Amino acid sequence: MSQSAKDRILRLRADLDHHNRLYYVEAAPEISDQEYDRLYRELLDLEAAHPELADPDSPTQRVGGAPQDAFSSAAHELPMLSIDNTYSPDEVREFDARVRKLLPDEKIQYVVEPKIDGLSMSLRYESGRLVRGLTRGDGQTGDDVTANIRPLHDVPLKLHGKSFPDAVLIRGEVYLPISTFEKLNAAREKDGLPLFANPRNAAAGSLKLLDPKESAKRSLRFYAYSVALWKDRPDTHRACLDQLKAWGLPQAPGIDLYDDIDQLIASIDQRRQNQSQFDFATDGLVIKLNSLDQQDRLGATSKAPRWCIAYKFAAERAETRLLKISVQVGKTGTLTPVANLEPVQLAGTTVARASLHNFDELARKDIREGDLVVVEKAGEIIPQVVEVRKDARHGHHGHAEKFPVPNKCPVCQADAVRDPEGVYIRCINPACPAQLKERLRYFAGRDQMDIEGLGEALANQLVDAGLVHSPVDLYSLTAESLTQAKEAGKLERIGELSTKNLIAAIADSKSRSFDRVLAAINIRHVGGHIAELLAAAFGSIDALSAASADPAQIEAVPGLGETIALSLRDFFASPSGQKLIEGLRQAGVQLKVPAHQKKEPQLLAGKTLVVTGTLPNFTRPEIEALIKSLGGRAAGSVSKKTDYVIAGDEAGSKLDKARQLGVKTLTESQFLQLIGRKL
Ligand code: IVH
Repeated sequence: MSQSAKDRILRLRADLDHHNRLYYVEAAPEISDQEYDRLYRELLDLEAAHPELADPDSPTQRVGGAPQDAFSSAAHELPMLSIDNTYSPDEVREFDARVRKLLPDEKIQYVVEPKIDGLSMSLRYESGRLVRGLTRGDGQTGDDVTANIRPLHDVPLKLHGKSFPDAVLIRGEVYLPISTFEKLNAAREKDGLPLFANPRNAAAGSLKLLDPKESAKRSLRFYAYSVALWKDRPDTHRACLDQLKAWGLPQAPGIDLYDDIDQLIASIDQRRQNQSQFDFATDGLVIKLNSLDQQDRLGATSKAPRWCIAYKFAAERAETRLLKISVQVGKTGTLTPVANLEPVQLAGTTVARASLHNFDELARKDIREGDLVVVEKAGEIIPQVVEVRKDARHGHHGHAEKFPVPNKCPVCQADAVRDPEGVYIRCINPACPAQLKERLRYFAGRDQMDIEGLGEALANQLVDAGLVHSPVDLYSLTAESLTQAKEAGKLERIGELSTKNLIAAIADSKSRSFDRVLAAINIRHVGGHIAELLAAAFGSIDALSAASADPAQIEAVPGLGETIALSLRDFFASPSGQKLIEGLRQAGVQLKVPAHQKKEPQLLAGKTLVVTGTLPNFTRPEIEALIKSLGGRAAGSVSKKTDYVIAGDEAGSKLDKARQLGVKTLTESQFLQLIGRKL
C-alpha cells in the first residue's frame, strides 16, 4: 500500500468531517454539494481499493448493517426524566419563586431553549467515538438504535477536537424538519400510504424502521441540549452547550441567557413568533437553571428535575363559522371533505379552508354546515377543525342536517364506494373528469413527466374543453388544435408562444426515463420510489405486465409487497390500463430501460451472506462482487443476522456456526439457483 493513498484517505476523511460540520452545525458551507459529492466518491473509491484501511468511523460508513428483527433494549446509565409543564407566565413566576426559595440569596440565571418536538435520544461517546444511541423508552431503559442514528449527519461519529472525556452521554432531540415531513407525507399520499399526523410521529416512525438504509432515507436531524456523566464538566449549562458545539453537535437556534425572570417572560411572545421561520416543530420552551452546581443541589423528584420547567405554547386556535363542506376528488378517486371557513387569522396566516380528514371523522365529531367551529394550527401544519360549538347551534344555523356520506361522486355522479380498507370513500368511475384533472396534473408534474406549463389551471381547461380524456391525448395535441380551441372560447390565457412551448414540452416528455413514466401513469400504490424498484427489477412495461399476472413474481422483489402486487395485477388486467399503455406506446413514450442503463435486479437487497470454503467456479472476490452487484452484503463472520452461508469445500468453523445458529446454508449451485443464474 502506498503511503500517499493512506494520507489521501485520512485527509479526505478529515475534510469531509469538516465540511459536514460546516454544513450541519454552523449552517455555513464552504463548498458546493457537488464538490462534497466529488470528495466523498473519491474516498469511496480509495477505500474500496484499500480495504486494509477501513475505519468504521469513516464518513462513508454511516449507513450500514443488516435490517434487524427488533431493537434490543438497554438500561440508561442515568435515567431520562421528563420535564414539568407550565402554561402561563404566572406559572413560570411560581417556578422562579420555588427556585429562589430553595437557593436563598444566590444569583440565579436561566437559559431558555426551544422545546424541540421530536424524540429524546441519549448518545454515548467513549474517548470521542460514538458507541451507542438509546431512545428514551420508559426513562429507565431504551431501545438501542445506534445503526439508525449513525446516518444522521448532525451526529458526529467522532467528536471534533483533540482531547475527550473517557465517557459522556450527550442528550438531545431527534427530529424531522417540517419541510421534510411535508415531502414525506406528499410522497406517501402518492403511494396511497397512510399519512403521518405531525413531524414527531413521522420522526418516531422513521427512527424505528428496522432497516437502517430505509431509516437513513428519511433524513432525520438532531439537536443536542445537554451533556451528562462528564467528569470535568464546566460550571454552567451555557458552557456545556458551547463545548457541545465545539465537539461538532448542533443546537437549536434561539438559546439565550437571562438574569431576570421578567425579561425572560417578556421574550416569550417574540420567541413564539420567531418560531415560524425555523424548519423544526416545537411545542414550547425549556427554561433551565444555568449553574450546574445549583442544578445538582436542587435535584429531581422521581419524575422531573426541580431546576427546569417547560413552557408549553398552546396550539393556536380560533373560532369561526363553517360556511360549507365541500367534497374534493383526488386522482385515485378518493373523496375528502374540506371545510370552507369564514376567513380567520391564525398563527400569522389567514385560514379559509381546513382539513376534515375523512367522513368517519366528520361523523364522529358531528360537524355540520353553519356550525361555529374551532380551528387549530399546531406546529405550523395544515389547519384542522378540532371542535364544534354545539351549544351555539340554534337560530337559523340550527337546521343544518348531518353531512351525508356521499354515495355518488359530486363531480361525475358515478357511484362512490367505501374502500376495502374501510376508511376512504372512492369514486369508481375511471373517466371521472375531476379524477382526470388530478391525474393529468400529476402526470405532468415535476417528478413525473415534467411537462412545463401544464399546471392545475391548464389541466382543468384541457379536460373541460374536451380536448383531453386521458394523458395519452396530450401527445396528439397540436398548435392548431389548441389555437382552434382558443378561438372557440374553450381555452383562456394561452398565447402563441406558450402554445408552442407547451407542444415542445409535451414532445420532450417522451424521453423521460421509464421509472418516471411508470410513476406518472398513476397505478394505485405505485409512487416514485416503488416505480424505481419496478423499473430496475423488470426493465420494461412488457416484462412488468407479464409478471403482474403472477403476484408472487412482484412480491419476490425486495421492498414490494402484496398490496402493490395486487394493484399491478388489477391495473394490467383492466381494459383502461391496457388502453393507456398502448396509447403511450403509440405516442412514442419510453416504456423500457435502455439496454446500456440496465442494472442488475437487486435480488439480494438487505441480505447478508457469508462465503466460506473453496467454491468450484468462483474465487472469493468474484462471488463477493456478484453478491454486491445484486444488492447484498458479503460479511466475514456468521451471526444470527446472517441470511445465508455459501459453503464450498473444506468449509470449517463458519459452517459449524451457521448450523448451530440455524442460518441457511447453500452450496454454490443452490446459490446460483437462488439468484436465477446458470454458470
Ligand atoms: S432538557 C431532565 N431541553 O422534552 C430533562 N429537553 O418533555 C432534560 N426536549 O424528554 C431535558 N427540547 O426529549 C431538554 N431544549 C430541550 C428540549 C428537551 C425538547 C424534550 C426532551 C424531554 C422532553 C420532556
